[in-house]
Amino acid sequence: MKYILPLLVLLAMSLQNCAETPKEDSPPSEWKPNYDESLVPEYTLPAVLSPASDETVESWEKKRRPEILALFKEHVFGHLPEAKADSLWWETLKEDKEALGGKAIRREVQCYFTPDKNGPSMQLMIYEPTVKTGPVPAFLALNFFGNHSIHPDTNITLSKQWMMNREEMGVVDHKATENSRGKRSSRWPIEMIIDRGYALATIYYGDIDPDFDDGFQNGIQPLFYTEGQERPTDNAWGSIGAWSWGLSKAMDVLQNMEGINGEQVAVFGHSRLGKTSLWAGALDERFALVISNNSGCGGAALSRRAFGETVERINTNFPHWFNGNFKKYNAKEGNLPVDQHQLLALIAPRPLYVASAEEDQWADPKGEFLSALHANPAYHLYDLPGLPTAEMPKVNEPVVGTIGYHIRTGKHNVTDYDWEQYLSFADLHFGATSIAD
Ligand code: GCU
Repeated sequence: MKYILPLLVLLAMSLQNCAETPKEDSPPSEWKPNYDESLVPEYTLPAVLSPASDETVESWEKKRRPEILALFKEHVFGHLPEAKADSLWWETLKEDKEALGGKAIRREVQCYFTPDKNGPSMQLMIYEPTVKTGPVPAFLALNFFGNHSIHPDTNITLSKQWMMNREEMGVVDHKATENSRGKRSSRWPIEMIIDRGYALATIYYGDIDPDFDDGFQNGIQPLFYTEGQERPTDNAWGSIGAWSWGLSKAMDVLQNMEGINGEQVAVFGHSRLGKTSLWAGALDERFALVISNNSGCGGAALSRRAFGETVERINTNFPHWFNGNFKKYNAKEGNLPVDQHQLLALIAPRPLYVASAEEDQWADPKGEFLSALHANPAYHLYDLPGLPTAEMPKVNEPVVGTIGYHIRTGKHNVTDYDWEQYLSFADLHFGATSIAD
């Protein structure tokens, strides 16, 4: 008996090692993803607006929106704990005024969640343009392999946290090595972001909750347990909830930072972290713009289509991401009281960008597009265009309204092309701030 828990942990960790790439070949099962449009089940989506009434902005904000938010908490991502144990404070550990050859100021800010330094904490790294006429808008995003993986600068502190093993990423025995510096820089065009007049703030997601199923013994969840409690209840948060909570804490910090315009912070995330940015954006209305990059199942994609990754697959491979209740909908998507277009509707009236990739069928690009489209009623309430097309655009032809959408050529990834669209979208909604022209 005493070996069962460690064995389960090892199994979960080995599953994690091959995570972040589509999972369709893993684990041994009869199950095959459906990639055939003609085999998508017939479905009826739950309504965004109150079914039997003339929704107004007021009734949406006071009643319907909170209703949908509560359903997502109860059945999908889990409730967040009450504010107990929430004593956030922070200190700047490093500041480099000559980052990127003098173009940027880079800071490492340690954010503590307990009054002393012994509890969990996260390191927020911020790049801010050196030349600016006032506080600048910012992108806030979690990263997969540590702050040091986003740029080769050796002054960036190497993360000491548990990390998913990936040899080509320079992670050995679940620890980052010097080799992992800058390994993810292709996904983070920092110079381009700075040249366009934006700051970039990022956190290693494992600082908040290491991404493996250990029954929620590490990460921030135990901070909130009541006496004798050993794990979150079935309707309480999983890892996505915890990561989103971390983004909100980072927002508290950014709002107190002189160089940053706290009214113009966009939350961005890729894949599981795209699911997270959507949930963070739904929960915390201080995020002025929300971006989902290839977020797929449990993110932007409609669950009821069961195309590519399904609710059952995601709950089986990653049992710690959503709450316990979400598992009731394994292979029963039709019973879900919500679908993901309603998650997107919770972002309204704030600008939202959803991006897909042509070769990322696992994440169901069409389901991501349809979800954005069916979020429109919430935007229309505010007389905003939402997504201004009912037809899925061709590859590399973005459609932009209050909701933006593109499907680009290529794989599950974050590319310069994606960032160019996000920057232009932010320019459009925040007012251009470029210092490079
Ligand atoms: C797996 C998982 C996806 C997730 C992705 C990632 O492929 O099935 O749901 O988006 O990992 O986060 O990289």
